[in-house]
Amino acid sequence: MIRLEKIDKYFGGLRVLNSVDLQLASGNVTALIGPSGSGKSTLLRCVNLLEIPESGALELGDQRLEFSRDQRPSREAVLTIRRRTGMVFQNFQLFPHLTVRQNVMEGLVTVLKWDKDKARARADELLEKVGIAQKADAWPSTLSGGQQQRVAIARALAPSPEVLLCDEPTSALDPGLAAEVVEVLKQLAVEGMTMLMATHDLRLAATIARDVVFLNNGVVVEAGPSREIFMQPRAPETERFVSTLTHSLPDEWTEPGGAGRR
Ligand SMILES: Nc1ncnc2c1ncn2[C@@H]1O[C@H](COP(=O)(O)OP(=O)(O)O)[C@@H](O)[C@H]1O
Ligand SMILES: [Mg+2]
Repeated sequence: MIRLEKIDKYFGGLRVLNSVDLQLASGNVTALIGPSGSGKSTLLRCVNLLEIPESGALELGDQRLEFSRDQRPSREAVLTIRRRTGMVFQNFQLFPHLTVRQNVMEGLVTVLKWDKDKARARADELLEKVGIAQKADAWPSTLSGGQQQRVAIARALAPSPEVLLCDEPTSALDPGLAAEVVEVLKQLAVEGMTMLMATHDLRLAATIARDVVFLNNGVVVEAGPSREIFMQPRAPETERFVSTLTHSLPDEWTEPGGAGRR
């Protein structure tokens, strides 16, 4: 279980997250939706402490951190949280000077001090899992965007994180390449990976995520089962935003008699 309580994040005078509460049950996939600039990336970065909130609390399993302006969390606490969370970025962020396999091994060897043979075996296992074992010795720049993102997913999974954070994992990809990334994420969801992902991709949000959180101006406007948020949003802001997401909703959501999305 991951819990955020009353998280506030400021950049200078700008309050980017405003008392955000969020609970992610283990094994559950939650989509984070909202307009550009609403704070989705910042929220994800607060979960793995790439950004440190000014106030509120973060609970990850048995670890609880309370934030205040007066005291930053210890380096040790930050590293522990980092280790327990994996992050996948919109633009992959692979190391260009390392091969695909080395990209996946890198954190295991340099941060977790695994020996190289063990790290290599783990990398190969994960590259197999994301369907890209044949590219293990290739340079990232020779791969398609979809392949690069699958490598990035393998890298994020390497230390066996308890939650995978994905920041618009398909939005830099053409539809065909996005589909192969959606397939990999869908498989992880089926296997029970806990995930929080910011996305504008309805295939991701509606078909993989059980829950949806709608963020607007740093405020959680509405959260709940994805079907409810997409089909019967309570807040007008949610309804307006959902109607801007253009892909069609899953067929099984269309009620007999044709009552689709409002
Ligand atoms: N490092 C930063 N410094 C200053 N402002 C930032 C920084 N990162 C994000 N912001 C601002 O915070 C707000 C939320 O940004 P972001 O979390 O990237 O939103 P989203 O991912 O939903 O598009 C925006 O107004 C953005 O300009
Ligand atoms: Mg963003």
